[in-house]
Amino acid sequence: MNLNNVCLTLSAVSKRQYPQTNMPEIAFVGRSNVGKSSLINKLLNRKNLARVSSNPGKTATINFYDIDKTLYFVDLPGYGFAKVSKSEKEKWSNMIEEYLNSREQLVQVILLVDFRHKPTSDDIMMFNWIVQSGYDPFVVATKLDKVKSSQRENSLKLIMETLNTANVIPVSSENGDGIDLVWLKLKELIGVDDNDCESSERDKRCHSSGSL
Ligand code: GTP
Ligand code: MG
Repeated sequence: MNLNNVCLTLSAVSKRQYPQTNMPEIAFVGRSNVGKSSLINKLLNRKNLARVSSNPGKTATINFYDIDKTLYFVDLPGYGFAKVSKSEKEKWSNMIEEYLNSREQLVQVILLVDFRHKPTSDDIMMFNWIVQSGYDPFVVATKLDKVKSSQRENSLKLIMETLNTANVIPVSSENGDGIDLVWLKLKELIGVDDNDCESSERDKRCHSSGSL
């Protein structure tokens, strides 16, 4: 896997629209505005593949990003955004639940929490669902760059204690800190290395591109 062929395959709002492939999928979940789309861009070394906004609620569909025809990163709408209407909230949570509960090729759900804050009750609920569903805990704490070095140990401790796990990787999608650790864990999980994708094959793949 070398990230040479990365594209948005499609955006779905219901199950029948999901890609009909068996490629493994890694989903990114977390509160609105926590930095899911930013993390996907940083991991894929792209600036604007996944659309990012300082206004919560930017990602409103389930977006499947094809990576070298090897796996999909799946960017989900965020939860916990107070300003959307009740019916919109229900629509989003149904969309997220439908995906998480039905997708057989989903190999890992990565929970994003904000490094600056104690995980919310929604975060805890999501974390418990992830573990009860049989996935290894994999938490990424975002916006590391916004926390002073002197405060970081305490911030990490608070997240680990609140979620009761040591599997927390602090990252910054701003300056790239921690991103290699996330990749290391991801590659372990999916069992691929950098030489899996031959360039001649690569060129035939993944021609579409786009951003949401
Ligand atoms: P929704 O699509 O609304 O669910 O949000 P999201 O979780 O995809 O968040 P998004 O990636 O759109 O980022 C939200 C805001 O946080 C944007 O203004 C980003 O620039 C900012 N942001 C995300 N990650 C980081 C980070 O690591 N450091 C800093 N400083 N800002 C970040
Ligand atoms: Mg988003």
